[in-house]
Amino acid sequence: MFITLEGPEGSGKTSHIPYLVEYLRERGYTVFPTREPGGTSIGEQIRDVLHSLKNTEMHPRAETLLYQAARAQFVEQVVRPRLTLGEIVLSDRYADSTLAYQGYGHQQDLEQVRLLIRYATGSLVPDLTVLLDIDVQVGLQRKQKADEWNRMDAYTVEFHQRVRAGYLEMVKQEPGRWIVVDAGQTWADVQAALRNKILACLPPAQTQ
Ligand SMILES: Nc1ncnc2c1ncn2[C@@H]1O[C@H](COP(=O)(O)OP(=O)(O)OP(=O)(O)O)[C@@H](O)[C@H]1O
Ligand SMILES: [Mg+2]
Repeated sequence: MFITLEGPEGSGKTSHIPYLVEYLRERGYTVFPTREPGGTSIGEQIRDVLHSLKNTEMHPRAETLLYQAARAQFVEQVVRPRLTLGEIVLSDRYADSTLAYQGYGHQQDLEQVRLLIRYATGSLVPDLTVLLDIDVQVGLQRKQKADEWNRMDAYTVEFHQRVRAGYLEMVKQEPGRWIVVDAGQTWADVQAALRNKILACLPPAQTQ
């Protein structure tokens, strides 16, 4: 099963994953946590280019293509092999981030972006995607406080509002794949909601 966590900046994806992984492993599931862009040596190098505050001149189409290059490597080197082994792959972001940020955020043609995603992923779509939904300003403030500012965070508030609206539109278009968690709650409440909602979507764990 391929599960992805999505959501605007500072919604809590990265901080929740290790605790979710521990919880699911305790319940007998084999879970492989990973992240995008990254997850592979090539992908992590591309991540550095994408996140560096030195690269503010990057054009949205260059940004879009770099994400797809990292993603193609990620799908073939990490996701498909792990899924073949029967593991749960739990990824911090995936292709929906591109539709949200490079599509809705940069206001590029959504059909063209979808085609690029299909090419990069070989049409691999997650089985389940969790949207950690949060007010954009609250999320950005959390990141500023944590001193984790990168090139993507530095886009305008209007950009990030389009990203959030884009995510909510995607949920409407494909309600069977998405679950939404209110990430404006306390960290513990968000973690509890994530545990319950994800567990409810999983088949029973294999017992040895
Ligand atoms: N519910 C919460 N309440 C308060 N602070 C939180 C909550 N969730 C996360 N944080 C804090 O907000 C900061 C950003 O969280 P985190 O890095 O997990 O977000 P993220 O979704 O991974 O962001 P990004 O999209 O930029 O990678 C962290 O310092 C984290 O500890
Ligand atoms: Mg993160």
